[in-house]
Amino acid sequence: MTASTAAGRGEERITTRSAAETIKNCCEVAYSSDLVSLLLGDSYHPGGLKLTRRLLQAAELRPGERMLDVAAGVGTTCLLVATDYDAVSDGVDISAANVTVATDAAASLNLTDRAVFHRGDAEALPLPDESFDVVACECALCTFPDKPTAVAEMARVLRPGGRLGITDIAADHARLPAALSGLAGWVACMGDARSLQDYRRLLDEAGMRTTLVEHHHNALEQMIWHVAARLDLLRMTAGPRLEALGVDFNRVRPVLEAARAAVLDGILDYVLIVAEKPG
Ligand SMILES: C[S@@+](CC[C@H](N)C(=O)[O-])C[C@H]1O[C@@H](n2cnc3c(N)ncnc32)[C@H](O)[C@@H]1O
Repeated sequence: MTASTAAGRGEERITTRSAAETIKNCCEVAYSSDLVSLLLGDSYHPGGLKLTRRLLQAAELRPGERMLDVAAGVGTTCLLVATDYDAVSDGVDISAANVTVATDAAASLNLTDRAVFHRGDAEALPLPDESFDVVACECALCTFPDKPTAVAEMARVLRPGGRLGITDIAADHARLPAALSGLAGWVACMGDARSLQDYRRLLDEAGMRTTLVEHHHNALEQMIWHVAARLDLLRMTAGPRLEALGVDFNRVRPVLEAARAAVLDGILDYVLIVAEKPG
């Protein structure tokens, strides 16, 4: 397998299976951590549940339909689908810890028959062909090393006429500052984020027809601001304990500032894309 990045920054080309596995392991560890949950809350993407609702509306999720959330995090979107949309859902995430948190949350809400969670890799979804009406993927395609395979997998599990709804960071790689590249930048959803055109090409190549595109850069700017504010609060209240766990506030702050500047300069955007599998 060659999981090469179109980032075009020679120093960070991901060309081997072991490099791809390293990235997946880093994502699993990072997104299973208490720190991420403290900083991001229950929705690990810009715009939170408000943007999730917009995505589900744009993807026309209807009562009784079946939805899959790829890289479901702690299950927040699937639980919303079960409670507010009268639909059933599956969630897949590479993090075993997230799958446990999501499954426990479904049990505590008596929703285990409407929201089921699986540990799995987006590049090899553990689910049958043509079994979902809607597939969602929020702020995660940017982290998958082999994006064409992941998009092909999402298309495979959709029934003909089904809709794929993606929200993700879009990046102008030629202008991405060095502080946002590298492994940490990749895990933080920026280092291998693609341009809108690249995402559309990936969808085209998987046989999907893009029907809607929206720009939500304000949601990304707000999220960066929110994370910076929470980090300041943590530094004041639990600084020494977090530093003992290896959280280096002095390194995180410039990354957040670079990310915020990149949004304001139009280098980073947050996009919503809906595509249909021809029926
Ligand atoms: C930024 S979080 C988004 C989580 C969720 N979609 C949300 O919006 O709350 C990225 C998620 O992708 C998961 N992930 C990363 N690589 C993955 C892969 N190859 N397959 C499945 N999940 C993956 C991580 O464990 C993490 O939960």
